[in-house]
Amino acid sequence: MTDNGNHIRWFRDSLPYINAHRNKTFVLYLGGDALESLNLPNIIADIALLNSLGVRLVLVHGAAQQIDRQLESRSKSWDIRDGKRITTPELLQDIIETIGGVKANIEARLSMGLVNSPMHGSSIVVNSGNFVKAKPIGIVNGKDFHNTGSTRRINTDAICQQLDNGAIVLISPLGYSPSGEIFNLDSISLAADVATALKAEKLIYFSSEPGFRDQNGNVVSELQTINSAAMSMNSSEEYLFSLTSQACHNGVNRCHIVSYATDGALLEELFTRDGSGTQITRVSYEQIRKATPEDVPGIIQLIVPLEEQGILVKRSRELIESEVDQFTIIERDGLIICCGALNPFEAKGELVCLATHRDYRNGNRAEQLLSSIESRARTLNLSGLFVLTTHSAHWFIEHGFIEGDISELPDSRKSLYNYQRNSKYFEKLL
Ligand SMILES: CC(C)(COP(=O)(O)OP(=O)(O)OC[C@H]1O[C@@H](n2cnc3c(N)ncnc32)[C@H](O)[C@@H]1OP(=O)(O)O)[C@@H](O)C(=O)NCCC(=O)NCCS
Repeated sequence: MTDNGNHIRWFRDSLPYINAHRNKTFVLYLGGDALESLNLPNIIADIALLNSLGVRLVLVHGAAQQIDRQLESRSKSWDIRDGKRITTPELLQDIIETIGGVKANIEARLSMGLVNSPMHGSSIVVNSGNFVKAKPIGIVNGKDFHNTGSTRRINTDAICQQLDNGAIVLISPLGYSPSGEIFNLDSISLAADVATALKAEKLIYFSSEPGFRDQNGNVVSELQTINSAAMSMNSSEEYLFSLTSQACHNGVNRCHIVSYATDGALLEELFTRDGSGTQITRVSYEQIRKATPEDVPGIIQLIVPLEEQGILVKRSRELIESEVDQFTIIERDGLIICCGALNPFEAKGELVCLATHRDYRNGNRAEQLLSSIESRARTLNLSGLFVLTTHSAHWFIEHGFIEGDISELPDSRKSLYNYQRNSKYFEKLL
């Protein structure tokens, strides 16, 4: 396929993601280091692209590097206690000035629209305001943190009003107290606070690393909130992991770590199946996994009522026992609530016995199971997945299967076809 052909295919493949992301709220974090990256113009262009695709965007920025430089140029420095910077009243003015400069710079970049630039034609409205109420950290172990503060409340109504109007909301690491004082906030944790308050779909941190790495140095594409043990993390990554885990437990659907240095890392993470960075998800109490012999009674319990109604083909216990390793199941508190099996026939795989427990239908479980069986089929180098169905044709059509003729069945499967059942044949290429 030509390069254009690849683009066209990529663009078509991204359609389900475009639809899934539209009208969802994403909180993006750009730290002071990311804002100095050579790749920043591309990140800004990608942010403009998300905005034009209808994603509701909140941008939280940091300014640590810029503040350090400003203080150094004025021969001033921070006092740091327990890893936190102490914002004395003497430093506060420098900090406010620097953060104001960084914010204006981001606004300027989001306002660009030169012909022949990726930003041409985008007319983005960026709004910032007093969205963050803050409180002082106070005196800890005898040390006064002065104007270093923490989040007290996020004005989600005001933010949502801006998002409803299609604006990008820009939030700086400054918060205001009801008494009119200004507090310097930890921008990394502010981003998590904002995402949590908004119950955002995604919280995305741009990082110098492409994602979290395992002990062999490989970037891990998906990590559950309890799973950091097998990872190799420095203290700032541990901090980020604990913030993202907490955010996931408090209502943010997914958190992501993506590189700010690699062109396209954000788009790859959001619009491709494998992504580019690390996605952090809540531990679910439902588990999707390959079946073991101990699961046979649970599988039988799930499928027998459907066999009795003639929806599924009858299978003997012996057959299920001998083919149990072809089954994938979803288990919830010890109960098997969804199952499906992959039977390879020559270059294709037959998806059989797909069933969800009546009480757990319409929760995308069969969809998850299908996608897990598809990856299993891909690792077996199968070219397609086919299914014979009497009752669920439309479910398969809606999940990318196309009706075919039974003459397309692999030869070794044709002889087993039951003409009395008269099932329809559907296939999905992998
Ligand atoms: C088909 C089945 C596995 C779907 O399980 P599920 O976990 O509820 O599936 P999902 O949550 O991923 O999808 C649910 C969606 O599919 C739709 N759907 C369910 N069964 C369908 C069918 N037979 N035809 C068309 N759409 C169907 C639901 O209405 C729902 O759509 P909505 O979200 O627009 O309301 C389940 O209904 C089942 O066990 N059916 C009986 C067994 C069966 O027919 N298996 C296929 C045999 S080959």
